[in-house]
Amino acid sequence: MTARPAITRVLGDITEQRVDAIVNAANSSLLGGGGVDGAIHRRGGPEILAECRRLRAGRYGRGLPTGQAVATTAGRLPARWVIHTVGPVHSTTEDRSEQLASCYRESLRVAAELGARTVAFPAISTGVYRWPVADAARVAVRAVTEAAAVGAFVELRFVLFDEPAHRAFGAALAP
Ligand code: APR
Repeated sequence: MTARPAITRVLGDITEQRVDAIVNAANSSLLGGGGVDGAIHRRGGPEILAECRRLRAGRYGRGLPTGQAVATTAGRLPARWVIHTVGPVHSTTEDRSEQLASCYRESLRVAAELGARTVAFPAISTGVYRWPVADAARVAVRAVTEAAAVGAFVELRFVLFDEPAHRAFGAALAP
């Protein structure tokens, strides 16, 4: 029986996290963007984009589909890997929760394959993709809790960039 990882939250910048893998809220092009995607590429340097371009030239010729995840180097960041995943854009007419949960599940599957022990997640889809943060936090915490056993993880950390997100994840993590 493997010990269960600590599932934690912190108010901060994901590019500063000293963990094995950080998860990027990317878009399907994998060629960068704003928000956390922009911060990771800016702070991580050109190696990350170079690897993303190779992924686009090969296996992901048509881009990374929503809900899937793929790893690259973390370049100059303290982490070893960046796991890029594409969140769903929030919809008021369609329930895309399963796609959002898949981002966390697939990121953990990739992290386990890499042998990562500590993983940091942003609040996927809650920025440009407009997902209400309270609901996104509930989906995220449930998905990470359910998938935590897929690897020998020590810590799974939600890194929140503002107080409302930090509060929402606190509520979702409360026993
Ligand atoms: N560290 C941690 N979290 C961050 C950081 C950071 N440095 N910068 C932004 N965030 C937070 C935002 O406050 C938000 O809560 O990450 C969350 C996700 O917001 P976005 O980065 O906008 O990502 P998302 O909503 O999933 O939209 C993805 O935006 O940047 C583009 O290329 C990206 O097209 C894609 C889309």
